[in-house]
Amino acid sequence: MTDTPADLVIHGGIIVAADTMFPASIALRDGRIAAVGEAQAMPAARESFDAAGLHILPGAIDVHVHFRDPGYTHKEDFESGTAAAAFGGVTTVFDMPNTIPTVADAAALRGKHAIAAAKAHVDYGLYAVLGEDTIDKVPELVEAGIIGFKLYMGNTFGRIATPSTGAMLEAFEVVAPTGKRVSLHAETNSVMERRQAKLVAAGRTDALAHLASRPAVVAVEAVARAAILAEWTGARIHILHISSAAELAPLRDAKARGVDITGETGPHYLMLGAEDYARWGGIIRVNPPVREAANQGPLWDALLDGTIDMIATDHAPHAPEEKTHADIWSVDCGFPGVETQMPLMLTEVANGRYSLSDYVRWSAVAPAKVWGLYPRKGVIQPGADADLAFVDMARAWTLRDAELHSRSRISPWDGRAVQGMPVHTMVRGRFVVKDRALQPGTRGHGRPVHDIQQMPAPAPRNTDQTIAAATATVVPGAAA
Ligand code: DOR
Ligand code: ZN
Repeated sequence: MTDTPADLVIHGGIIVAADTMFPASIALRDGRIAAVGEAQAMPAARESFDAAGLHILPGAIDVHVHFRDPGYTHKEDFESGTAAAAFGGVTTVFDMPNTIPTVADAAALRGKHAIAAAKAHVDYGLYAVLGEDTIDKVPELVEAGIIGFKLYMGNTFGRIATPSTGAMLEAFEVVAPTGKRVSLHAETNSVMERRQAKLVAAGRTDALAHLASRPAVVAVEAVARAAILAEWTGARIHILHISSAAELAPLRDAKARGVDITGETGPHYLMLGAEDYARWGGIIRVNPPVREAANQGPLWDALLDGTIDMIATDHAPHAPEEKTHADIWSVDCGFPGVETQMPLMLTEVANGRYSLSDYVRWSAVAPAKVWGLYPRKGVIQPGADADLAFVDMARAWTLRDAELHSRSRISPWDGRAVQGMPVHTMVRGRFVVKDRALQPGTRGHGRPVHDIQQMPAPAPRNTDQTIAAATATVVPGAAA
């Protein structure tokens, strides 16, 4: 124990770890956790904070949000999005690149970095796109600071063109030696486009036509194909928004073969089903679609057995008028989720489906490990950033769109009864939300996490057969 006083000691809470929970005090110094233990073992501190009756969780890391900034700030911006995150107990977000301009080169990335640095209330990572014609930008993007790459195997909001399988293989060849992970929107575009065209031609405009255009086979085929290319190249991949029982088979197979593949699902795939289209109409339209309720059980099982590694939200805010057209094909896809994930998932803890430790593994530990941020983030122990979600598990309440802090106050969670409330949220030792109020002066407190990312050593494969290797060995004088 040093003689330097701590900045703050938190007493009386129950700390939740990946495999256990225990009552303890936490001492903080310079934004990091300095000590965890019995109250009398804490160093002297300038201030103390009473967390009696609360569980203290490592802040959630939501690896999949769309904060729309720049380009669509009427839907959300970095300030409103990160405020919503803080109200949801989320202390780090990874922002998606389908903004305007698309984050596909260093200039666009630098622009987003400046925006995020000025506005963020919580810490953040930024994704960059891997596209058909932008593979040569990989080095400059890695240099300028990204958490990882995003590759759209299927069309969604922003209509970023889908790379061919050939471009995907080359992209994986180029990214593999960087060690960065490629996150995949794993829905096969040609299948969906063809089906949607036929549904439109047949006159289907109802909400369920959206589900009919994207049956689970589009994800099954995409996950299997992506895993084959990852296995060949040694690229690390992550399957975004797993929505169906059927795609768990290629995911499990790939894990069994030793492919470095991880996956996420979100509350809407676990808790909503095809019967909800009748109630919500276009509000529920999202890619991949909310599917038949029979998928929910296998998705829960896959989380519990580790096939699915983590929970993320695909927070996809749109304005109300963009979500409420009668013709489903003109409704923007997605809805906000960064703020409601934690109470929705805690409700299932209260219902006895799993433990708080399970939840912490899915919401904090796994994302931190998969993106090389552990143990600086994702855990409450000395040396870690003091990123904390203080949760009142006794608090039963109702989610209301009108009370969301996102600019997009329209979601299929409106009116839902939940149990468990994030009451205070701390980012690197500073309360961003305290007693459900955003604290003054926290705009701009958020920092990029890129500098603390430490991915394991890259493990590229078949490097003698890459396009780069093949085109480097032109034999002088050989016949054409
Ligand atoms: O529904 C969706 N909306 N799915 C995505 O993959 C993208 C997102 C968006 O950006 O709106
Ligand atoms: Zn998304």
